[in-house]
Amino acid sequence: MQLRLAVVSALLLTIQGVDAVSSQRVASAGSKSGTGNPWFSLLTKSWALAGESEPDQTKGLDDLAKNIVELAKSGAPDETMVNAVESIRAIVHDMKAAVNDSHALAQQQINQKAKAVASCQVPPHTDSDYLDRAIIHGENSIENVMTCRAEEVPPYDAWKACEAEKARCSNTTECCAALVQPNKYCLNPGTAPSPLPFEATCEGTSRCKDEDVTTKLAFFKEKLAELDAAEKACEDSRKGCKESYDCESLKTIWETQRTWCNRNHTNFEQGYCDLATSLEAKWDSYYHCYDTNFNALYEEEYTQMAQLPGREQEWRALLRIDSLLGALTSSDATKALQACIDKKYTHEDWAHLELMYPTYDASFTPRAHCTEELQEPGTSIFSQTWYSSKSRDYGAHAFLLIPKSLSTYGCVSGISSHYCPRVSDATALLTVSKKVSPGHRSKAKHVQHPATRPTRL
Ligand SMILES: *[C@@H]1O[C@H](CO)[C@@H](O)[C@H](O)[C@H]1NC(C)=O
Ligand SMILES: *[C@@H]1O[C@H](CO)[C@@H](O)[C@H](O)[C@H]1NC(C)=O
Ligand SMILES: *[C@@H]1O[C@H](CO)[C@@H](O)[C@H](O)[C@H]1NC(C)=O
Repeated sequence: MQLRLAVVSALLLTIQGVDAVSSQRVASAGSKSGTGNPWFSLLTKSWALAGESEPDQTKGLDDLAKNIVELAKSGAPDETMVNAVESIRAIVHDMKAAVNDSHALAQQQINQKAKAVASCQVPPHTDSDYLDRAIIHGENSIENVMTCRAEEVPPYDAWKACEAEKARCSNTTECCAALVQPNKYCLNPGTAPSPLPFEATCEGTSRCKDEDVTTKLAFFKEKLAELDAAEKACEDSRKGCKESYDCESLKTIWETQRTWCNRNHTNFEQGYCDLATSLEAKWDSYYHCYDTNFNALYEEEYTQMAQLPGREQEWRALLRIDSLLGALTSSDATKALQACIDKKYTHEDWAHLELMYPTYDASFTPRAHCTEELQEPGTSIFSQTWYSSKSRDYGAHAFLLIPKSLSTYGCVSGISSHYCPRVSDATALLTVSKKVSPGHRSKAKHVQHPATRPTRL
């Protein structure tokens, strides 16, 4: 009796985890065989024993083997034992099926989570057709900007011409020659040369010598020519000059036009701001989707990896019990039992319990990266691409094309996320008011496989 009890508890130690199935089966088998079957009740009494640690299980199994050998030696199996063995066999079969089910479920859990990762939509690269239609051409097109900038040229030139004339006509240098003083156009006339020294030669004499007269005449002729030349220079320098200049009103006309063009300019650039904003948002949600699902998959794999050895041990135990049960009813029980004991089970015996881990698979889709370069209004490369290089085609002044600041400046670097690269530009063109560091998003960190992850069994 003691021996048999030992056999039963050892047997039970080796079987764990499939309580529900086994107790159900035990209940029905028990009632079928009746309570009068001592073998059955011995083998099944506390079937749903709580799990033991793995070394205990293995020891239990070895004890079981030893004890069954002893039991078999003690005499030929009677009918109640044969019946009990059959019932237990059926239970073992159910337990194997349950292990299979739990394996299938585990793989299913992993696959489901892998599917969720795969379902994250990678944002598509912006269609060049869209750029053409919605930004470069449409209502706020580059054509409009450039046409407007070209229209800005005449009022700008008129204002500048006015300023130049005003400057020219206020330059008194030519009209300040000493000979022509005083002259109303010379603001600082200084002193005109005195004619008195030239009179001195004839002074006090009743009559000038011919020679003196000739000399004097020549001298005054020369002076006269000098005077004429100085007067002409003064006159010439003032040719076309008006009494006053109202350049400010011309400036206002230009500035009004410029305001229009700036608006136009802003509208065009806004297209690039909007495009960048929407792309960054799409990538943000893609990253969120991928990272969230990847983490879930990764954790699932980790969980399943940890559970796999237990499932494999359970299968191994069931194989041994199956073998031992067969030995009990075999014609040469001792030999059959020895064969069971000597049998070494390997991975080959439960190869079907192997799990596929998608993140380890070469074909697993890694997280995609944005390769679309975003154009950044307000940078020199942007204005080079869109404005300076095209100015001649439209007859616009290149230097007029780039206003000092527009609300669009910095609209791309100002976006909080930086998934997509920016069209490379080391030198910022204009003082972009918002200084935004192109830091990386800290929220969604892509989880790396830690090196410490347990190796697969
Ligand atoms: C367990 O699964 C394997 C592989 O699919 C199969 O060969 C075996 O018959 C299954 N066993 C039971 C008891 O369901
Ligand atoms: C843009 O420029 C075009 C052409 O000069 C003009 O007709 C249009 O009104 C401008 N748009 C805006 C919003 O200023
Ligand atoms: C005024 O005109 C003279 C002679 O044309 C020139 O040398 C000088 O630079 C001008 N002065 C200014 C302030 O433009």
